Amino acid sequence: MHSLGSTFAAAALAATLAGCGNSNPAGGSASPPAASPPTEAEMEAAQPALPAPYNTADLANGAAKFALCASCHTLAEGGPSMTGPNLHGVFGRKAASLETFHYSDALKAKGWTWDAGRLDTWITDPKADVPGTKMTFVGLSDSKDRTDVIAYVMLQTGYKP
Ligand code: HEC
Repeated sequence: MHSLGSTFAAAALAATLAGCGNSNPAGGSASPPAASPPTEAEMEAAQPALPAPYNTADLANGAAKFALCASCHTLAEGGPSMTGPNLHGVFGRKAASLETFHYSDALKAKGWTWDAGRLDTWITDPKADVPGTKMTFVGLSDSKDRTDVIAYVMLQTGYKP
């Protein structure tokens, strides 16, 4: 009886999670599901702890501009690499260091660590920043758009202020 009861509870929980759109497979193990991406409300709550100017950036515009990156990049923890590498944990990560992604020699040769300023230069004009890069993205010429998208990426990739 006890085991039947807990099986039912687990099934109900799995159904609830599925209903919330959580894409993490329930798996049937006792481990908790991987964290879902932060919601809009969670991002707004976390934003004041970011360094300036990201603490006052326009997150709605950042999300809209990230649509330009989303054809090639995922942000979630454990998300797949696509044309571009998964970006979870990118702040403080050495450039071209994801072992599962095949980077250009040009980016590998840089050896820098990504921070907000480095990312800002990179997405302004990737090909000018790193001649020979595989990132065929034209760039964001508007500095406000870059600030907004960087704030959004910080909040979606587990940036630690
Ligand atoms: C057309 C596909 C494409 C688009 C669009 C794109 N990227 Fe990339 N991105 C790549 C590729 C490919 C690489 C690997 C570059 C290399 O190895 O030279 C990369 C690398 C990166 C890296 C370095 C990651 C690391 O592990 O070192 C960051 C950060 C990044 N992109 C951010 C962005 C952001 C932010 C945007 C949108 C403003 C964007 N990218 C748009 C394809 C893309």
